[in-house]
This record gives sequence, C-alpha cells and structure tokens, in this order.
Amino acid sequence: MNNLPPTRAADAAAIEASLELAAERGGDLAPLVYARLFARQPEMRALFWRDANGAIKGEMLAKVFEAILDFIGPRSYAHNLIETEVVTHEGYDVPRTVFATFFGVVAEVVGESCGAGWTPAMAAAWRRMLSDLDHFVAQRGRVMA
Ligand code: HEM
Repeated sequence: MNNLPPTRAADAAAIEASLELAAERGGDLAPLVYARLFARQPEMRALFWRDANGAIKGEMLAKVFEAILDFIGPRSYAHNLIETEVVTHEGYDVPRTVFATFFGVVAEVVGESCGAGWTPAMAAAWRRMLSDLDHFVAQRGRVMA
C-alpha cells in the first residue's frame, strides 16, 4: 500500500482485512453472493445457463475480488477492467445497473461473513469504495487519468 494517501491506505487495509476474515470464516463466498444476487435480480439467474457446475460464477467472483484488491491499492487496471466488463456484459444482457447491485451484494456478504470481526472502519471503507466504484460503472466513455 505504498504511495497511497493515508485515508486510502487505511481503507485498503480495512478492506483487505475484511476479505481475509470473510474467507477464513465464510469459506467460499460464491454461493452466498449469487444466491443473494439472484434473490434481488431474479432475471440474472438464467443468464448463467452455460454454468452448470458453478465454474463461471466462481471464476467471475475470483476476478472481482482480484479487481477489488487492485482498485483499492495500485489501481493499475481495475478501473479500466470494470468499465470494459460493463460493456462486455451488455453482450450477456447484464444491465450496467446490476453491477452496482452486485458490488453491494459482495459487500454485504463479506460483512456478514466477518461476523463479530466486522468493524465500523471496514464498513466505512466498503461504503467509500462502493461509491467510488459507482463512477466507473455509471459513466460510459469517461477518460481516466
Ligand atoms: C467487475 C465485475 C465483473 C467482472 C470482472 C466479471 C467478469 C466476468 C468474466 C471474466 C466472465 C467469464 C468467466 C468464464 O467464462 O470463465 C464473466 C461471465 C459472466 N458474467 Fe461477469 N463479471 C462482472 C460482473 C458481472 C455482473 C454484475 C453480472 C450480473 C449478473 C455478470 C454476469 C455474467 C454472466 C451471465 C456471465 C456468463 C456468460 C457466459 O455464459 O459465459 N457479471 N464475467
């Protein structure tokens, strides 16, 4: 977390700690994440018709966690990836609004999986990250510095 302003570095540390704790306590978060996503956006379930064994969903979530770690840290590619995936996923009939829902669901599942280990600092860091992510999901064709 070198070269990050102190607030961002603190948020990054809190988010990383939450992800570690959630993985430790909750194991594979994929079933929880997708169950909640489909409860909230039922029309998304059918779009995974090719994913009989859950491999695509698992792979996608793994990419999302990697992207989150880059987004809160060096941000070497994640902001571009997210903007690109929003467009790519239009080809799968995924509306861009569902990206915000999806990231929100990931945050909730991580929070709940942390249980008593979930701190106000983690909650605040995730809130800030979600609002930061919104800019990349919502804007098309924005030129990033
Ligand atoms: C930043 C967020 C996201 C990233 C990085 C991402 C990444 C990916 C990747 C890499 C794949 C291909 C996986 C594979 O074939 O092994 C994929 C497939 C897919 N994603 Fe996402 N995804 C994101 C968000 C979403 C959201 C919010 C939805 C909404 C439900 C979604 C729906 C799908 C669907 C339906 C497929 C399967 C397409 C197929 O049949 O091959 N993705 N995603």
